[in-house]
Amino acid sequence: ADSTGETLRTPIVAVLGHVDHGKTSLLDRIRGSTVIDGEAGAITQHIGATAVPLETVSEIAGSLVDPTDFDLPGLLFIDTPGHHSFSTLRSRGGALADIAILVIDVNDGFQPQTIEAIDILQRTETPFVVAANKVDTTPGWNPQENTPIQGSYDAQSDRARSTLDERLYDLIGDLSDHDFSADMYWRVQNFANNVGVVPVSAETGEGVPDLLTVLMGLSQRYLKDAMAIDVDGPGAGTVLEVKEQKGFGTAIDVVLYDGTVTADDTIVVGGTGDPIVTDVRALLQPRPLAEIRTEKRFEEVESVTAAAGLKIAAPDLDSAMAGAPVRVLRNRQREDIVEEVEAELAALGVTTEEQGVVVKADTLGSLEAVADALDEAEIPIVRAEVGDVAPRDVTVASTADEERHETVMAFGIDVLDDAADRADVEDVRIFESDVIYRLVEEYEEFIEERER
Ligand code: GTP
Ligand code: MG
Repeated sequence: ADSTGETLRTPIVAVLGHVDHGKTSLLDRIRGSTVIDGEAGAITQHIGATAVPLETVSEIAGSLVDPTDFDLPGLLFIDTPGHHSFSTLRSRGGALADIAILVIDVNDGFQPQTIEAIDILQRTETPFVVAANKVDTTPGWNPQENTPIQGSYDAQSDRARSTLDERLYDLIGDLSDHDFSADMYWRVQNFANNVGVVPVSAETGEGVPDLLTVLMGLSQRYLKDAMAIDVDGPGAGTVLEVKEQKGFGTAIDVVLYDGTVTADDTIVVGGTGDPIVTDVRALLQPRPLAEIRTEKRFEEVESVTAAAGLKIAAPDLDSAMAGAPVRVLRNRQREDIVEEVEAELAALGVTTEEQGVVVKADTLGSLEAVADALDEAEIPIVRAEVGDVAPRDVTVASTADEERHETVMAFGIDVLDDAADRADVEDVRIFESDVIYRLVEEYEEFIEERER
């Protein structure tokens, strides 16, 4: 910290892209883990945060970087589902991420969620690099484990190289159709005006050194001013998830993007009802390189400074919502901060109709994602809420005008016993899944079946 108390914080890097294009695999490669093995249908359903220290970044980047060129402490990666819930990644109405990696499968090219991600990046003016992933699937590819892409290129046949080049130029063409001037990253001089494309393989690690080098370079060069924060100021963050934490009751997973939170602080958290004002019971941090979503062992700490992923345990967090703001009160007026949180929450939410199905989900982010998927499939929603399926949800569904709306969609939650009983009696259909598109598919199949 310098004399003003300002320190450079870790840039927050969002990893975005279409389903299955390799976001989690790429992060697994960087952190040396296998998070995808533990996922339902190998699809990321929630958003997770992983801190990668500068030491690890420079270890992977090897000869491409000189760690003494950097004074940023590392990178905080946020993995997102390929589904539509990046809208959870908000901070003060803007983007939670300082910078992003747009992962695109070189074989598959631009897909709906690629375009959606690009729109969000454009709208929020978030600088990004493109990771052109799965280069190892190029016919005739000769894999070069963990090497910088230039070395890997040199080891390929002319044929393999030109096939890959063709695919990469198609990508660059697609980017320019979306008003982004893009080029291979080594030809980009000014990253503020041009998008760099980095060929990578999460499978072999080729190009991963380049990707990290570009990210560090970009952050160091363009984000340094924005990264200077008053570390001692009251913390501000966004809720990623609300979960039971063994021995602590309900806790929230948070990405802290400003200031500090201590174990003695009072916090204000956005919830389904009025903002929650509560005293921190415990701050829990995953180990470095561990993913907050899957980590089982947490360390209890006295204070956490941005940027970081952490768990906050406190009383009354049951009604907290994923995607909602978290503010440390410190010595500010309680009403002011509550008002601030309310204003931010007003900007979130799902649109409901007079008639439609009932949707219940585990987080505001997944609720939005399910709602988006239903909207795309032109299935209207009458009620959308975070929480387990309760009898009153079944009652709402049972009063629908049309038989096909006598339905409850449950994503990543439980159906309470008395709700299931009532559904039997009222002839209400409950669809349950941990995979959004399956929920929609099952519903559509059911309707088709019935209308036949
Ligand atoms: P969602 O979380 O569902 O959006 O997917 P994701 O983008 O996180 O993709 P994920 O990492 O789960 O990878 C999808 C599939 O592609 C898995 O079977 C991976 O093993 C495979 N895959 C990812 N990267 C590569 C790569 O570089 N090369 C090859 N050959 N396969 C890859
Ligand atoms: Mg994933």
